[in-house]
Amino acid sequence: MSVILVQGYHPLKGEIEIQGSKNAALPMMAAAILHKGTTVLKHVPRIQDVLCMMGILESMGCACVLEGHTLTVDAKTVRDIQIPEENGKAMRSSIMLLGALLGRCGEAYVHYPGGCSIGSRPIDMHIRALRQMGARIREEDGILHGTAVKLKGVPLSLPYPSVGATENIILAAVAAEGTTTLKGAAMEPEVEALCRMLNAMGANISGAGTGIIEIRGGSLLHDGEYTVPGDRIVAGTYLSAVMAGGGSAVLKKSSPDHLGRVIETAGAMGARIKVDGGDMKILMEGRPGAACVVTGPYPGFPTDLQSMMLVLMSMGQGQSRLKETVFEGRFATAKELRKMGAEIIIEGKEALVNGKGRLKGACVEAHDLRGGAALVTAGLGAEGETRVTCCHHIFRGYEDICRDLKNLGADIRREG
Ligand code: UD1
Repeated sequence: MSVILVQGYHPLKGEIEIQGSKNAALPMMAAAILHKGTTVLKHVPRIQDVLCMMGILESMGCACVLEGHTLTVDAKTVRDIQIPEENGKAMRSSIMLLGALLGRCGEAYVHYPGGCSIGSRPIDMHIRALRQMGARIREEDGILHGTAVKLKGVPLSLPYPSVGATENIILAAVAAEGTTTLKGAAMEPEVEALCRMLNAMGANISGAGTGIIEIRGGSLLHDGEYTVPGDRIVAGTYLSAVMAGGGSAVLKKSSPDHLGRVIETAGAMGARIKVDGGDMKILMEGRPGAACVVTGPYPGFPTDLQSMMLVLMSMGQGQSRLKETVFEGRFATAKELRKMGAEIIIEGKEALVNGKGRLKGACVEAHDLRGGAALVTAGLGAEGETRVTCCHHIFRGYEDICRDLKNLGADIRREG
């Protein structure tokens, strides 16, 4: 079992570069199978989820090479249309391969996707849209079997701006015949990045980031190279780490343009943040102030940084409120934070937090990727030692959280 040990109360100071975005890289890897040739992705994070997606692509017959942070996917041949159960269940993004495989091969077998245990996470919107595009999708013993003689571009509308459903539809629509107009599309920067990458390879997609995306299908894709943007959620995690531990830091390639609501909230809680191009300079003196935060789809406050916010509110001063509107199960971290002395009352979708000014080190368990990272940041601002267990969740999305925080001056180490 992997464990991270953190000694609190070491003010941070240093400069680090933020890794490439997990949520941008994974759909881009799925997109690579739409092209019967080579796709090169740069600034790819070396994380478990990327390795898992590489495993899936290789099992299908693609050749993947990850050298440093450059990933080359050669998808000339796709022999197998079945996602291995273990990989498919380990990672939610495997569902993205349903649209891509239907587009490329006209058939796919995909297990109900796994990933973090943060709520029920249904995939009804993905399936409904692909059916509207002409696919036949049946469920057989927990496996989705999809077939499509030829996907057709159609007008589509999502009842909620699901990131995954938007990306799945885009992948299917690029290979479809005719034009797909998607209303109610997710506006997350990772969706925009996926569209830019596909356009750079010859696709014809417009409107990404506006809520209405138009995809003219059927373009022949060509070899291409694309750089994955910095991970705004990892940047937000380290911003929270500096706020929890106190001190100063420079986060390079941190996508501050995509962290508007987060920077605004952090500023209101006492952090002094200066944005300089793609870099963020942070200075935090004293304990964080109270805040009122509601998570929501982009450009709202990201649900992926909700647990970090819960940490800051718990060690801050005064009463805070946090409403989770995206994933109901994301309050699992509250139970662990209580072991560190936090006072959090959960009422439905809302958490009421009574800031204690400080937390104390304890043995806590990571239940999901972002919640686990949040517990590490909590340790930075807690008195004594914090032991975070089940850190395999964290390694799904953070290249090396210990290396990064150590470079910022933290007293942190990994066991196991
Ligand atoms: C993606 C991100 C995840 C982030 C989330 C919201 C990746 C790999 N993951 O997840 O880090 O937290 O966006 O920003 O990019 N829903 C349905 N039916 C569906 C699809 C979704 O009801 O068919 C619901 C979900 O249960 C959830 C909400 O819609 O309540 C948002 O989910 P969605 O945007 O699809 O998240 P993911 O794509 O899974």
